[in-house]
Amino acid sequence: MIDWHCHILPAIDDGPETLTESLEMARLLVAVGFRRVHCTPHCMLGRFDNRPSQVQRATAALQRALRREGIPLLLSPGMEYSLDEYFPVLLEQPQTLGDSRLLLVEVPWQASVELVLENVRLIIQRGLIPLLAHPERSDLLHMDTLFPQRRSFKGLVGRWLARRGAAAATDDCVSGLLLQDQLQDMGCLLQGNLLSFSGCYGGQVQQRVVANLEKGCYNCFGSDGHGAESLAAGLLPALQALSNYPQGTDILKRAELRPGSFLSN
Ligand SMILES: [Fe+2]
Repeated sequence: MIDWHCHILPAIDDGPETLTESLEMARLLVAVGFRRVHCTPHCMLGRFDNRPSQVQRATAALQRALRREGIPLLLSPGMEYSLDEYFPVLLEQPQTLGDSRLLLVEVPWQASVELVLENVRLIIQRGLIPLLAHPERSDLLHMDTLFPQRRSFKGLVGRWLARRGAAAATDDCVSGLLLQDQLQDMGCLLQGNLLSFSGCYGGQVQQRVVANLEKGCYNCFGSDGHGAESLAAGLLPALQALSNYPQGTDILKRAELRPGSFLSN
């Protein structure tokens, strides 16, 4: 199995602080069947100023340590880019996932629809493939892009019904005009978080991840692991929850995102 999104590199972002903890994360991933991990520290100008050369060196160093310890896990360098207003500068020297054309990106909590669309256009113009990290966790991706007022109307109705014990109108995956759909139409691929399946991020995220899976939206999954403790607690329940969905298990076991050659440069 391949973990497409993991903050396993030590002391580079808000992931593990020490090599010992990174090794512990690696052991946990191997124990449940992972054999490859894309090391994807945050890249966020002003907060996590990681550069490709730095990530490549850190990945090679961790790979050497894994070999020394006899942990059978293959690493490749990557990055998790924030689609914020500074992203175009970072795109000048992108770190893709390994030697693929995939660029892992996340939608910032406070981004606008226009900013996200513009950044995605830039990625595609550069000949790269945007891979959206954990879309199920983003409220913006589940907003109605053409008629944002419908979202607020639905929100009002949902809150009104929720106060009266009804739940149906709170479902935000029904309009067909979601930003997520629009981005997929543009060529974005989607990476789901394993821990979303076990409700680690709350009930709404859990509903969205299942809805996305059932609609066939996901191309791959990642642990999005940030530390040994959370991984130890969350990984097994997440895999157990995912095992209820045969299509999810198939995606997890895929050696590549899709048949074909687009993964190579
Ligand atoms: Fe992440």
